[in-house]
Amino acid sequence: MTQLSAAQTGTTSGSSDGKTLYGGKGTRRITVRDIAAAKERGEKWPMLTAYDAMTASVFDEAGIPVMLVGDSAGNCHLGYETTVPVTLDEMTMLSAAVVRGTSRALIVGDLPFGSYQEGPVQALRSATRLVKEAGVGAVKLEGGERSHRQIELLVESGIPVMAHIGLTPQSVNAMGYRVQGRGEEAAQQLLRDAKAVQDAGAFAVVLELVPAELAAEVTRVLQIPTVGIGAGAQTDAQVLVWTDMLGLTAGRVPRFVKQYADLREVMKGAAQAFAEDVVGGAFPQEEHSVH
Ligand code: KIV
Repeated sequence: MTQLSAAQTGTTSGSSDGKTLYGGKGTRRITVRDIAAAKERGEKWPMLTAYDAMTASVFDEAGIPVMLVGDSAGNCHLGYETTVPVTLDEMTMLSAAVVRGTSRALIVGDLPFGSYQEGPVQALRSATRLVKEAGVGAVKLEGGERSHRQIELLVESGIPVMAHIGLTPQSVNAMGYRVQGRGEEAAQQLLRDAKAVQDAGAFAVVLELVPAELAAEVTRVLQIPTVGIGAGAQTDAQVLVWTDMLGLTAGRVPRFVKQYADLREVMKGAAQAFAEDVVGGAFPQEEHSVH
């Protein structure tokens, strides 16, 4: 028998009032106002990345309230080694697909490297493309104090911004993939970055690869929700890269990833079964043929 998900039945995750982000019964798209209300209620919420319409539609059906069309598409979807080469054209195309595949989730489109670092006007031009051409409900960009002017102009212009501090993968050539915020000075800088993006008007902030105690402190002092990835259990939300979470990524995944399925093995096994059927003449059968 097909099992109905919690989101379909509305039976779990505090959905009885029909207002929670995950497990809620609403059919309209989630907005940044819903995200702010969740912080006030003290409600935790999940975010997953998505890069295509079909995968996004599965996560939408599962009730995932916020999807990030991350520039992690570079290494997880487009075959680049890092996020650095990803272009705004690519992000626009992928974001549009995710928007088309969903009807409830808030879709956040990532501004790729080189599309906002020149200054606020370039950021506004790039974000406007994601909003107008792809239809995203919000954009994300990396950087704390260094990006506050960009965030201010986008927010003033009516574009909700999710900020991203701690490890910022677009700066891999400068900072590598190392835990951020270790030591008193680095911790104080992370706190300044967190306050800077909140003051600039960001509606949420991703904390990537920072010590759990520091992420908990940032979460306590901010009014906007924190979205953790490798940042411990005390953040308001948690995000994972979907190909890591579902076991599609080849090779090693970061320690902070919990793998909920082994899609790589499932897909490889199915492809091999198909190949063997074709080679051995077991596929197609009469029921797969037309006359
Ligand atoms: O691009 C991405 O997927 C991200 C998440 C890791 C937060 O920035």
